[in-house]
Amino acid sequence: MTEAILLVGGKGTRLRPLTVNTPKPMVPAAGVPFLTHQLARARAAGVTHVVLATSYLAEVFEPHFGDGSALGLELEYVTEDEPLGTGGAIRNVAPRLRSAPDEPVLIFNGDILTGLDIRALVSTHSATGADVSLHLTRVADPRAYGLVPTDDTGRVTAFLEKPQTPEEIVTDQINAGAYVFRRSLIDTIPAGRPVSVERETFPGLLAEGAHLQGMVDSTYWLDLGTPQAFVRGSADLVLGRAPSPAVPGRCGDRLVLPTARVAPDAKLTGGTVVGEGAVIGSGARVMGSTILSGAVVEPGAVITDSLVGEGARIGARTLLDGAVIGDGASVGTDNELRAGVRVWCGAVLPDGSVRFSSDM
Ligand code: GDD
Ligand code: MG
Repeated sequence: MTEAILLVGGKGTRLRPLTVNTPKPMVPAAGVPFLTHQLARARAAGVTHVVLATSYLAEVFEPHFGDGSALGLELEYVTEDEPLGTGGAIRNVAPRLRSAPDEPVLIFNGDILTGLDIRALVSTHSATGADVSLHLTRVADPRAYGLVPTDDTGRVTAFLEKPQTPEEIVTDQINAGAYVFRRSLIDTIPAGRPVSVERETFPGLLAEGAHLQGMVDSTYWLDLGTPQAFVRGSADLVLGRAPSPAVPGRCGDRLVLPTARVAPDAKLTGGTVVGEGAVIGSGARVMGSTILSGAVVEPGAVITDSLVGEGARIGARTLLDGAVIGDGASVGTDNELRAGVRVWCGAVLPDGSVRFSSDM
């Protein structure tokens, strides 16, 4: 097993404003672009050749990762002229694959943080002789995902992407976004037009009688597609709950990158990350949050489960809880921002301009 395709071309719409200037896989989690964790985990599982299928903001990947040698990988980049969807993206990189027709090729969604045993997925694939093997996980509310019922041998019986009606919710097993494809199947996906692997390829293969095998693995799993999930995932990497060889430092309550300045009486807990050159003022408390590089948190601010973008400023005594502050935004002193509020990149909120009231 040597090669993998990473799907990193999505627009990351639900992560805006974090993804206005940065594609989702390049937003820092635990101090490094999120994609670094996936690449390092693939490398640790024995993958040596990775093709990145890029589309949205494609130009930022290569300057950062180059030929991949820093991670012990051989990295290639393929950019779609128009977004081709998940299946189209997989087909589009086929000319770069080196595997023989019957050999396995790994494919990963580019926004998943997981402790999946990648080698076990590949062994299951060879042991069962499947055409495609899928990592499945169980979630309480499967509606936002691809539902994948299986029979008692783990063979996939249907694939229902984002079910619209209650009758379609037939299982709590979902597609966890990691596949092994027999290489020859990749070549059968139609080329040159958008294809959804979830809505077209998987249902089509099942209708033709292909063998799709599910492997339920209940290890750590999170889709980092929303700001709340992204902040949670970054904190879990720092805390060591989500495994990655690429966390730059020891796991613990906090990760403070070199050149960040933290006042001695500031409190950083719950997997908080403070990026390079960021400043945390006296008496500030930051819990389970990500403060990106160059941001400034003024004295007495209290930040919980929030993300503060590059170069943003959080005024003294301001309270953030579940908030996302875009790059370069400035939130004045004595504000209170809660519950999924998003401040756009570069926006300016005057001192004391936003309060939260629960007694309306
Ligand atoms: N190259 C390329 N081109 N990549 C794309 C494109 C495209 O046109 N569209 C999406 N991607 C990439 C995204 O960047 C992401 O890494 C991956 O494909 C999946 O897209 P998402 O937009 O994140 O899909 P989702 O989260 O709604 O659903 C998918 O993931 C779920 C698990 O998190 C599906 O695969 C579901 O079935 C699955 O349950
Ligand atoms: Mg996703």
